[in-house]
This record gives sequence, structure tokens and C-alpha cells, in this order.
Amino acid sequence: MSEQINQTTEYINELTGSFKPECGIILGTGLGGLVNEIDIRFSISYSDIPHFPVSTVEGHSGKLIFGYISEKPVVVMQGRFHYYEGYNMQQVGYPVRVMRELGIKRLFVSNASGGVNPEFEIGDVMILNDHINLLPSNPLIGANDKYFGPRFPDMSEPYDRATIKKAHEIAGRLGYKIHEGVYVSVSGPCFETPAEYKYMRIIGGDAVGMSTVPEVITARHMGIPCFAVSVITDIGVEGRIVEVTHEDVIEAASKAEVKMTAIFKALLAES
Ligand code: HPA
Repeated sequence: MSEQINQTTEYINELTGSFKPECGIILGTGLGGLVNEIDIRFSISYSDIPHFPVSTVEGHSGKLIFGYISEKPVVVMQGRFHYYEGYNMQQVGYPVRVMRELGIKRLFVSNASGGVNPEFEIGDVMILNDHINLLPSNPLIGANDKYFGPRFPDMSEPYDRATIKKAHEIAGRLGYKIHEGVYVSVSGPCFETPAEYKYMRIIGGDAVGMSTVPEVITARHMGIPCFAVSVITDIGVEGRIVEVTHEDVIEAASKAEVKMTAIFKALLAES
């Protein structure tokens, strides 16, 4: 294991003592509300953590929060790192390596995305059942550290099927209409042109966004089961494409996050 990850983990362990998170959670743009549901025990600013990247994008406040949700010990990343901020893919995946050293057994991720499936509406929730990585790189490029996982990791089940099934049951019970689909990851930071949105759909995508895939690849390299949810904040379907700003994305995400929060909470309570 790298000396850096060792130092980061030691620093955090000294502050959190015997607290052992079971689930790691990464919250996306405008989706930080789950934090209100945490019985918080420790909160550490990214800027205080040795070797941790620091989040720069508006809408991401940059804290690692330790506590309980539905009585399960969790570590929550409030604010994540994006490739478009200038970090390389390994840096984007770095917190996931650290969370695994802290003890997580599963990873939950949320994000905001543009819907390219014509059945989608703004505010809808999509559970990821697969992804297509169109980011220009991969977090596993470079020397492989066998401590974490194999050189050529399997990706036949990027998102844990049993958790997806459970999430559908929960959503049904709560009366939420949710979708399941394929997330296409791009670098950003510009949103897509109409022709690009069309392309995402043609290649098999249902939603497109600028995150999640680096973290999920890093987690799957270590054999950690992943569950991810996307909130559709804008529509990339011919005839329905309008100008979109980061503020629109945050506003749409904030409105829909109640559903996402409820699903995460119930999943933690019941599995
Ligand atoms: N494209 C890429 N990323 C996004 C979008 C989008 O339309 N909406 C929110 N994140």
C-alpha cells in the first residue's frame, strides 16, 4: 500500500478512534441533504487531511463526515473530486482507497446527470445498472498495487445486483417511480452539444454526467460492491434541449434529493 494512503488513514484513525464505517457514501452536486440524516460523530475538512485533494467546485463543501445513518456506521464524502477540476483519475479515486482502509464494505454514490432517455423527466431518479466510461482515462492506469486488486479487474457487475433489487423494492414501497439505466461518464466541464447527447443515447446511455465512474472503478478494483443513483437535472433529448447552467443543476438536484435520501436511508436500515 502507498505510504501516502497509510499516512492519510493514520491521521483519520487517530481522530476517529474505534469508529469503523461499514458503508462509504459519496454525495453529488446539490445532493448533500443526506448529511442532515447523519447522527454525526466526527467531521473532518478535506483541507486538514494529509494528501487529500481539496474540492473546488461550487455546491461541494468538502468534508469527511463520520456517523450513523439508520444506526449503521458510515463515512460520507460531502463534496467529491472531479476530473474537470484538474485532478487526475487516481486522485479522484484516492478517497475510495482511503475509505476501504478505514473499513468500508460497500460504496453508495449519488450524482446529478443529464437524461438522454426520452422517457426521463427533470427530477427523476435513475439507479445505475451499468456505465460507459468516456472519460479520457482510467484510475487504474499506472503500476498496479496488488494489495488493492488485480491488474485486470473484472467489471461484469459494476453495480451490485442484489442492492439494485432491494432499492426497487424500497422505491415501490415509498411510491416512487424510478428508472434503471446506463450512466455515461464524460470529462466535462461543458455540458453536451445536441449532437453529443444524441451520441450518448445511440451508444446505449440513459444519462450522462461528469463523475461516479472513477470512484466505482477504484472500488470494484478492490472488490467493493457499489450502488449508485443519478438525479436527472436536465434533458438531452432532441426537441427538449434548453440552455442549462450549473445553478439549474443544483436547483433540480435539491428538489429531487428527498427521494434519493429516503432510498439510501432505507437501504442502510434494511441491508
Ligand atoms: N451533462 C453532463 N453532466 C451533467 C449534466 C449533463 O447534461 N447534468 C448534470 N451533470
